[in-house]
Amino acid sequence: MNIAPSLLSADFANLRADAQSVESLADRFHWDVMDGLFVPNLTFGPPIVNALRPHLAKPFDIHLMIDRPATYIPRFQVAPDDTLIFHIEASDPPEASIGAIRQARCRVGICARPATSWDAIEPYLDRVSYVLVMSVEPGFGGQAFLPDSLDRIRELRRRIGDREIEIAVDGGIGPRNARDVVEAGADTLVAGSAIFGAPDRLEAMRAIREGVEREG
Ligand code: DX5
Ligand code: ZN
Repeated sequence: MNIAPSLLSADFANLRADAQSVESLADRFHWDVMDGLFVPNLTFGPPIVNALRPHLAKPFDIHLMIDRPATYIPRFQVAPDDTLIFHIEASDPPEASIGAIRQARCRVGICARPATSWDAIEPYLDRVSYVLVMSVEPGFGGQAFLPDSLDRIRELRRRIGDREIEIAVDGGIGPRNARDVVEAGADTLVAGSAIFGAPDRLEAMRAIREGVEREG
């Protein structure tokens, strides 16, 4: 099980130090890029993510909550273990985003909103390494986990079958529900407010891991 802290909940005046403060227990870093069009919120884009890239060793998962993702994908300076994740609902054809990510030479990730059916995602499963399951409506941190997400993860796991695809789940995850999410089939837990909103971030990450590993 991987933990991917979401920097959306970090202090933007201190992004580098905040990311480094959790890096020892982070498996990957999750970056929420928002454009104010695809979602009703704005965060950061390639200049900021690229500026931080040399300062962090763990892989980056770059969650593009933006319209026209194929246009912006080439602007990210990524390493082969990083993931660029586009939303299937964005205006560019998924083929264009997949092609742009392949040209960027990193992992291809696809993301679905809570209401998006897996029928829409399934045709792309042979071309992606990573599926991001939104367990809240994208746009804001600190929302409550949508309980239907557990069935959605199970169904996605069934449809993936024996393909080597990482399932990451994003939104409302913390120590109390981490185990359910992993048991449903998640490989990677994205967590923002549960980590950066905690008095001790590393302790919060340990609590998430212990919540998953506890017996009974
Ligand atoms: C929501 C973002 C999430 C967000 C999760 O649009 O995609 O990555 O940071 O935040 P929490 O863990 O606080 O729900
Ligand atoms: Zn995200």
